Amino acid sequence: MLRVKKVHVKSYGCQMNVYDAERMADVLAKEGYVETARIEDADLVVLNTCHIREKAVEKVYSELGRVRELKSERASAGRDTRVVVAGCVAQAEGAEIVRRAPVVDVVVGPQSYHRLPQLLAAAGPARPALDTDFPLDDKFQHLPARERAAIRGRGVSAFLTVQEGCDKFCTFCVVPYTRGAEVSRPVAAIVAEAERLADAGVREFTLLGQNVNAYHGVGPDGRVWTLGRLLGRLARIEGVARLRYTTSHPRDMDDELIAAHGELPALMPYLHLPVQAGADHILAAMNRRHTADGYRRLIDRIRAARPDIALSSDFIVGFPGESDADFAETLRLVDDVRFASAYSFKYSIRPGTPAADLGEQVPEAVKAARLAELQARLERDREAFNRTMVGRTLDVLVERAGRQPGQLAGKSPYLQGVHFEGGTAAVGDIVPLAIVAAQPGSLLGRQAGVRDGDRRAPVVESPHRSADAA
Ligand code: 5AD
Ligand code: SF4
Repeated sequence: MLRVKKVHVKSYGCQMNVYDAERMADVLAKEGYVETARIEDADLVVLNTCHIREKAVEKVYSELGRVRELKSERASAGRDTRVVVAGCVAQAEGAEIVRRAPVVDVVVGPQSYHRLPQLLAAAGPARPALDTDFPLDDKFQHLPARERAAIRGRGVSAFLTVQEGCDKFCTFCVVPYTRGAEVSRPVAAIVAEAERLADAGVREFTLLGQNVNAYHGVGPDGRVWTLGRLLGRLARIEGVARLRYTTSHPRDMDDELIAAHGELPALMPYLHLPVQAGADHILAAMNRRHTADGYRRLIDRIRAARPDIALSSDFIVGFPGESDADFAETLRLVDDVRFASAYSFKYSIRPGTPAADLGEQVPEAVKAARLAELQARLERDREAFNRTMVGRTLDVLVERAGRQPGQLAGKSPYLQGVHFEGGTAAVGDIVPLAIVAAQPGSLLGRQAGVRDGDRRAPVVESPHRSADAA
């Protein structure tokens, strides 16, 4: 009997890696692989790696050590295991990976994973295959269309890459080197993918790009479209209930995009807009190309368009040369803006980036103390924001079963997790919930009305579609 081949994709890092992992699984599905959540069962292990902060490379090698043990255990049971390293560490390390870890069969960068089948075919024992090119032809053209069953299995909220790479060259960041120059997918290709996802029951779309609001894809009219315009087009697709996008740069928040936040009901009132730091000379040394006050003014304009918008940011503490006074400026910015959520990191030296060569590196203990102080303040604001939800009614997109039996879980427009007793709701519904409590990790809601049947994707209920749902 023919045994089904199984693939386990382990993804690290950002949301684009989650998207890429799905697309790699799509490519491999065409080769007869089904996905498994158990790495021990996998005939093919794909590590989809991240290079953004320190120790990323060492983490990959130690993971490969574990994979090597797994491979020899499986070999004694007569089973072969093949190993792929993908993602940004693959891009950055290239052939060094197969030199240091002979267990690896294929090394493939983020721009060439559509070639996985050929690479796997070319690789043999002691003959690894490598592809870390930035090919001129668009990988998206070569990726298979996403299958309905696979889309449904991944839920009602989906990522959709619209832009890749970055031309900003912040001095701390490896992304412009690992993901390359900014490239935008054409509008028609994005619309076709979104229609396919919506048709399979996806309701919420998060448009992804390393610098997503720099989007400048070719429209069907032959002109360059901005992200604001693209969002307007996607909002017209039947079944598209919610739109989000991430990650953005303050310099690329143009008027059209800001206006879209006021004009498009489907565009959710949540924006991740990293500021990184609050002192102007640190922002200049980071090559961020905006000041702290410039960021404050931008937030004012965005809030004027959409007053209830929840803001989120990334912060780096301990960038080279950051003094106590500079750090105090970061705290002051936090107090001024009041972020609803945020990610914060200690600066980590990335070899090959300009900031790695700066003097005045901040001692580790100082970075740790600043991070703790910043995180306490961000947490204060996050909890305060969540508390303002109690007593309000929020539209929640139901995504999955909750932790307790009979509970369902979903997301508020502000990207908060919400739990509630199931009632009449089903996954994919958008239900109004009265928020009764703000718990540390999520909100607790109670169903406040009948489900919003009008806004359900027609696909969920139409009989000819439910036939192939299984
Ligand atoms: N050190 C610490 N944080 C970093 N980030 C990117 N590069 C570094 C680095 N060298 C953070 C930034 C970015 C987020 C994705 O990761 O805050 O916005
Ligand atoms: Fe990195 Fe973002 Fe700066 Fe681009 S804009 S270099 S991805 S931090």
